[in-house]
Amino acid sequence: MTRYKKQDPEITRRKFINVAMGTTAAVGTVSLVSALGTANPVFRLTPDKAPPVKGDVLVHASESKEGELIKVSDLSEQLVRAWPMGKDKDGNKVIRKGDPNNILALYRFPKGQIVEPTKLDVTVDGEIVAYSDICTHAGCSVADSDQGDGMKCPCHSGQYDPKRGCKVIGGPPPRPLAQLPIKLEGDQLVVTDFFASMPYPFLSETEWEKFKKEVEEQLA
Ligand code: FES
Repeated sequence: MTRYKKQDPEITRRKFINVAMGTTAAVGTVSLVSALGTANPVFRLTPDKAPPVKGDVLVHASESKEGELIKVSDLSEQLVRAWPMGKDKDGNKVIRKGDPNNILALYRFPKGQIVEPTKLDVTVDGEIVAYSDICTHAGCSVADSDQGDGMKCPCHSGQYDPKRGCKVIGGPPPRPLAQLPIKLEGDQLVVTDFFASMPYPFLSETEWEKFKKEVEEQLA
């Protein structure tokens, strides 16, 4: 069993909202104190908790293969979970699993099956696509549907279509799973940018944009 599933998604969501309202809890890598504009940010981003950033490579997240580079041949129409792996300031490799919200879902579909609103230009040849694996409703890790019709969240039955930009096709999630821009470099899957849309646990584009800037400054 992997360890990235939330213990209690409702509590997690509540915590996040509490932080946004000025109470003391903290969620993931985000300093909401900072993200909401208070002076003197109170967090320092460590490389293991940074979100996926340009240049990261994708590695397996399953316990039996954790840290191994993901090859194209490892991927299929079944979900493969991945972590982004980057480097610290000394050049040491760091798997960014310090924030469970960094867990990713990868798929490889036959050509022509992935369609808009998927951002096709940041897939690999329209065949390999990467998303956040964290449900936008309350932060559970999403899995393949038992019925073979896309992805299903085990917490409140949210459903997503990974061939169509992980748009919501059922249940309570408020928005699609965020797509992660990737490319193939040699035989490695490489991240080319931040998530293309606001991932969980962010609640506003303003927070997300501000967080990305902080990440760029702190990892520079
Ligand atoms: S956490 Fe509620 S549907 Fe996924």
